[in-house]
Amino acid sequence: MASQNPNESLSVFSNIAQAPEDPILGVTVAFNKDQSPLKVNLGVGAYRTEEGKPLVLNVVRKAEQLLVNDQSRVKEYLPITGLADFNKLSAKLIFGADSPAIQESRVTTVQCLSGTGSLRVGGEFLARHYHERTIYIPQPTWGNHPKIFTLAGLSVKTYRYYDPSTRGLNFQGLLEDLTAATPGAIVLLHACAHNPTGVDPTVDQWEQIRRLMRSKGLLPFFDSAYQGFASGSLDADAQSVRMFVADGGECFAAQSYAKNMGLYGERVGALSIVCKSADVAGRVESQLKLVIRPMYSNPPIHGASIVATILKNSEMYNEWTMELKAMADRIISMRQQLFDALQTRGTPGDWSHIIKQIGMFTFTGLNSEQVAFMTKEYHIYMTSDGRISMAGLSSRTVPHLADAIHVAVTSMT
Ligand SMILES: Cc1ncc(COP(=O)(O)O)c(C=O)c1O
Repeated sequence: MASQNPNESLSVFSNIAQAPEDPILGVTVAFNKDQSPLKVNLGVGAYRTEEGKPLVLNVVRKAEQLLVNDQSRVKEYLPITGLADFNKLSAKLIFGADSPAIQESRVTTVQCLSGTGSLRVGGEFLARHYHERTIYIPQPTWGNHPKIFTLAGLSVKTYRYYDPSTRGLNFQGLLEDLTAATPGAIVLLHACAHNPTGVDPTVDQWEQIRRLMRSKGLLPFFDSAYQGFASGSLDADAQSVRMFVADGGECFAAQSYAKNMGLYGERVGALSIVCKSADVAGRVESQLKLVIRPMYSNPPIHGASIVATILKNSEMYNEWTMELKAMADRIISMRQQLFDALQTRGTPGDWSHIIKQIGMFTFTGLNSEQVAFMTKEYHIYMTSDGRISMAGLSSRTVPHLADAIHVAVTSMT
């Protein structure tokens, strides 16, 4: 657009190009501009209630109240590695209370800026200290993964993951690609509720992946952004990670409390590195501090204090698990309702993947043209790859979505 401001040509930035919107967050920007009362945002992965409102968990409100009332609390800097209690409890949450790696002090955990920050710190550490710079990420994956790891200094390659013809796992392709991977390379794995596909390996398939990766010396880097959100059980959703830790080998895990505690904007997460000995873990931690210090010095205190308060109090912990299960159950019920609504309309095609896939997202199989049509005609917003956030749906909006899918599928192929 031509500038109206004569001073603009004097700016040292006058030639700067307009950057494109983030493909996921840009959906919300477009949604916010839409004036239609029918509009539905199924783009961004944030939980909504049946009324379409953001949810702050009761247990989080309680923990915040306790923190506010505690006059002994101050606002001093945390250590570079974050809140010690939070780190210990986060490791226990993902690896299990009885994890030998924790008991043998072979795990180092640092508090980071949610899942994204944990992945970035882990990536930068690997780029500096690991002998192999290649990281394999699933195809497709969360859109931020390639950017995070490329900017961290790693070289990003992909392995096959999704089979559009079955809308399920391309297990054969995955095994072939990991077999052909550079020995020693890093492999990014979604611990559960794979984003965007909602397709996870079975326990047997995880076991085969583990054996293959260990035999080739591939280094597992788990991204755990949805623990408890997929099945409603924190333990079940951590099973893949625990299988890799149980064999005594090394492993990275990035945890986020954005979804499972609803702490999105608090930016609270953790990076854990499981090592072979306590001595190595100590040295690894000393180097993690050198990665973090020039990046943001030390992490914020509030969100981590909320998490630590909840995780160390058994009553609050139990309350959390119940609230978490209620969120997971509502999403599962949305899957069933959408599936039933498409069946009722006789929408052509097999839609069983809607109830088979798990976690926050359904990879519908709708193409970008159909998505654009649904946005224009029905004010339904989603990413152009056809991914919808089930957490953004409600019993009220399911029929509207089903109508839109039905017309999109029957009128365009
Ligand atoms: C697969 C995956 N990893 C990591 C994240 C990181 O989220 P956050 O940085 O908000 O914890 C997300 C969020 O959408 C995700 O889907």
